[in-house]
Amino acid sequence: MMYRLVFMQVLRRFDAEAVHHLTVSALALLSRLPLLKRLLHRALAPHDPALRVSAFGVHFPGPLGLAAGFDKDAACAEGIAALGFGFVEVGTITAHAQPGNPRPRLFRQVGERAVINRMGFNNAGAVAAARRLRRTRSLPVVVGVNIGKTKVVPESEAVADYVAGARTLAPLADYLVVNVSSPNTPGLRNLQAVSLLRPLLTAVKEVADGTPRRTPLLVKIAPDLADEDVDAVADLAVELGLDGIIATNTTIRHKGETGGLSGRPLKSRSLEVLRRLRAKTGDRLTLVSAGGVEDVDDVWERILAGATLVQGYTGWIYGGPLWAARIHRQLARRVRRHGLKSVAEAVGRTA
Ligand SMILES: Cc1cc2nc3c(=O)[nH]c(=O)nc-3n(C[C@H](O)[C@H](O)[C@H](O)COP(=O)(O)O)c2cc1C
Repeated sequence: MMYRLVFMQVLRRFDAEAVHHLTVSALALLSRLPLLKRLLHRALAPHDPALRVSAFGVHFPGPLGLAAGFDKDAACAEGIAALGFGFVEVGTITAHAQPGNPRPRLFRQVGERAVINRMGFNNAGAVAAARRLRRTRSLPVVVGVNIGKTKVVPESEAVADYVAGARTLAPLADYLVVNVSSPNTPGLRNLQAVSLLRPLLTAVKEVADGTPRRTPLLVKIAPDLADEDVDAVADLAVELGLDGIIATNTTIRHKGETGGLSGRPLKSRSLEVLRRLRAKTGDRLTLVSAGGVEDVDDVWERILAGATLVQGYTGWIYGGPLWAARIHRQLARRVRRHGLKSVAEAVGRTA
């Protein structure tokens, strides 16, 4: 309520990207304040045993995480976790630093509770991110690392570029994500075609398998894939022994500014893709659902449909800083109301 007022009266009057950078800076500062960080973490992070889930050998204190694109440079994962997220996916990080697209490139669609972005993987590159990820953390935060292709690298050299990013970052990640689904790097989504995806995932998997703890590997797909292509990626992921699929990225099916649309309008397609993946793969892969998650009902629906983990980004923009903490609290109640001991028991119940 309070945040809604602040958002409508103050935040929305400022440039969306300026607010974004300010928020990242505040959370980076919080990440460096041990006492405050710990206090917030104690008050807001998921601690209820009913919320714990395990996936690909990693233990998550709660199933709701922050999707990629907010903490592009791995600058503030601890601050984010202190606000109540169960895990944080940083990135997309590319092998080489790049500025992204010219501004403006981030647009709120307040009436639809949506956002359009054409950021274009603005980030300081894999080496800079690795330096940040190496800093010792004082909070137990699960950090996934999402990698993408450097814009100037041609498609024919994409595999080597992803491999370079993976070599630098896989040893520092709790899980690694190959992002082939952002609409703002020309040609990137072509890599979702199985003929190109197979050599790419095979090469990155070799790197991920070679780290001291074997880094789990997932692929992130677009909601705009045709159903048969969703099935084909699912089959490939199972065949190659991937750990999971993140579905979905933003959609280009909209009439607004050029870029990817996220938030409420993405909800139904994202759920549809999740259901399709579950039907195709059963429990052979961990499914991570993203796209239009706004409240505890959405999170519950995704879990019942087969998602072990759920991610949100746009819902947090409109829901306010305590969004994840609130949802986790309500989710724990929901689990008990259904007579279950933990969220894990609910995964796939309606699939
Ligand atoms: C501003 C913005 C930037 C994003 N950047 C990335 C990115 O760099 N890499 C990525 O895989 N997804 C990125 N995404 C997509 C989100 O991770 C997520 O898949 C998508 O927004 C759907 O979730 P939502 O409806 O909860 O926002 C971005 C989304 C937004 C809104």
